[in-house]
Amino acid sequence: MPFVHAADTEQVLDAYAGAFVASPHGIPSRFRNGAHEFFEQLDWFRREDCERLPEELAWARRECPVVPSGFDGGQYVVTRYDDLRTVGEHPEIFSSTTPGVQHVPVALPPLDLDPPLHRDFRQFLNPYFSRSFLSRYLPRMRELADSLIDGVIDRGRLEFVSEFAIPFTAGSLARVVIDDDDPDRMERAVQAVTGVATGDPSAFERVAGAAAEILSERSAGPAGHDDVLQSLITARVGEGRPLTLDEQLGVVTVLLLGGLDTTRGAIAHIGRFLAQLPGFEQRLRRPEWVRRDLEEILRHASTVSVMGRTVVEATQMQAVVVPKVNARWELQSVGRPEAGPNQVLVRVHACAICGTDVWMANGTLSFREFPLVLGHEGVGEVVAVGAGVTQRKIGDRVGIPMVQKRCGKCDFCREQHPNSFVTAANCAAPILTGVNVDGAHAEYIAADVDGTVLLPDAVPYELAAPTLCAGFTVWAGLRRAEVKPSGRVAVVGIGGLGHLAIQYAKAAGYHVTAVTHSLGKRDLARQLGADEVVTDGAGLKAAGGADLIMHTSSNHAAVAGAMEGLRPWGKVVMMGIATDEMTLPALPLVSHSYQIIGSAHNGFEYLAEALDFVARGAVTPMIEVFTKERVAEAYEKAANGDIRFKAVVTY
Ligand code: HEM
Ligand SMILES: [Zn+2]
Ligand SMILES: [Zn+2]
Repeated sequence: MPFVHAADTEQVLDAYAGAFVASPHGIPSRFRNGAHEFFEQLDWFRREDCERLPEELAWARRECPVVPSGFDGGQYVVTRYDDLRTVGEHPEIFSSTTPGVQHVPVALPPLDLDPPLHRDFRQFLNPYFSRSFLSRYLPRMRELADSLIDGVIDRGRLEFVSEFAIPFTAGSLARVVIDDDDPDRMERAVQAVTGVATGDPSAFERVAGAAAEILSERSAGPAGHDDVLQSLITARVGEGRPLTLDEQLGVVTVLLLGGLDTTRGAIAHIGRFLAQLPGFEQRLRRPEWVRRDLEEILRHASTVSVMGRTVVEATQMQAVVVPKVNARWELQSVGRPEAGPNQVLVRVHACAICGTDVWMANGTLSFREFPLVLGHEGVGEVVAVGAGVTQRKIGDRVGIPMVQKRCGKCDFCREQHPNSFVTAANCAAPILTGVNVDGAHAEYIAADVDGTVLLPDAVPYELAAPTLCAGFTVWAGLRRAEVKPSGRVAVVGIGGLGHLAIQYAKAAGYHVTAVTHSLGKRDLARQLGADEVVTDGAGLKAAGGADLIMHTSSNHAAVAGAMEGLRPWGKVVMMGIATDEMTLPALPLVSHSYQIIGSAHNGFEYLAEALDFVARGAVTPMIEVFTKERVAEAYEKAANGDIRFKAVVTY
């Protein structure tokens, strides 16, 4: 389908480009600055641009194969063969139905159709463009060529496009598309088609008029023809309906629009090669030339500059990218993931910022190269399921915690432990959301179905997100400590984990003492459910002591101090991530038979329980919600410890 209109020989020959355009919903900001100026300013209909195009396309194929252009409100120019194939083979994403490079106000089936209707049209049209069918027009085309040559032969020279390519193409195509018995009307049709070929603005109307006249005559009379027009009357498309008049005339229009410039251009190229290449004429005169050489000419000197598609399904998404260590978190446009086998694609609604995210962003922990897309407290809705997925369906509300998949074959995996942070630390090749693969600080995430958990309906996304790591962490720690019913639990540190630990311990029926130096948090601790609030170990002891101390911060000294209030056979459960050394009093460990326990999620069953508490309203994470546009601020505040108590980013 030609989009470049060229009036004379030189222009036709210059029009070659061979690119492909798909209009996007927007140009990704990532490309804006680095984009090549040529493409930003590109006008497909400007001659100088067409001249530079081959060279610029070569640059793009090397440096930026899908290059944004500012043409017509913003388009991508897709330059590599493989990408063109992808675009062409996915009409559900790259649709033909919306106007492309050149907006034509009428329907142009099948050019502007997507499957399945597109297939229906091609099915009835294809036979009329087969070699064997078209060969019936060969004698007339020879006649036409002879008479055109006869007209100029005495002159010894000709303007090849206007005196041969256009009249020959128009005369032949008029025959193929509008094959009428009435010689006068046929002559009018040829004149009108020639008008189209030379850019006469009223010509389309005259073609449509002639076609409509013939169509209506033939519809009324007996069927006696076998040609394109007749097929427009007899064809059935969609659910077996006939074509509308608009569709019938649209096909006629697109055949002329599609056939005239292209064939004229191809013939012009052949004319040029004949004039310039010694021996070319001899090659063309060989009987088998058509299949081989014509295809080669079309490949080498294409008359189609560009094809248009409109992106109807987003292929990009906004994601939070941490460009390098300690850098500002940025919202960027990146490729949207797809659900692979055994994966689900989740439209993320919210993702909380975890202390571990801060540590990865500031380089304290490192699992992969920057740039990073973090986030292991993401929740959202399943919008697509990959092959083999049976446990989840579109519409399910899910969370994607950190441990997405274990390798399944290392020594650790062979022992069949439940998935948990212990898996993350011990499996030889685990897949860890937001750690060694992209996380959920993004609009979409594709995750292994077994690495997702169903969310109870009653838990809003904003509250589910911090439960995926923080809530999970403290509840799993409490469960692992196995405190006796009616036991006494002390929570040291009232922060992201601690404020949840108080609530979970209280909801589980324990007597809860909050240990905090911060006067400002005393009232809060009580509101969260603490029975007592003390400042240190002596206070804890005076208040009756504790069977369990929950170490929820990185302040080891505070915990060591609080152990003064730990009762005989008491336990300390450590849940916060720290990379330094911890010093504990040695003697009471033995004399009081203490247990020091580490806890690291320990299994998804504790996450399910943790979510149930939130669903019942027994535990409510304290959150500060940020829109994704404010993610940089959310991170700054989280990194500085200024959030009460969990930053949740919505997407
Ligand atoms: C050198 C000659 C030709 C070239 C290089 C050429 C090129 C192309 C290209 C690249 C397309 C795909 C456009 C797209 O999908 O966006 C196309 C489509 C089309 N062309 Fe041609 N074409 C040529 C001759 C013709 C002729 C002679 C006719 C009519 C008799 C024609 C009718 C059409 C039609 C109807 C379509 C739409 C097909 C569909 O959507 O399924 N073309 N052409
Ligand atoms: Zn976490
Ligand atoms: Zn493993």
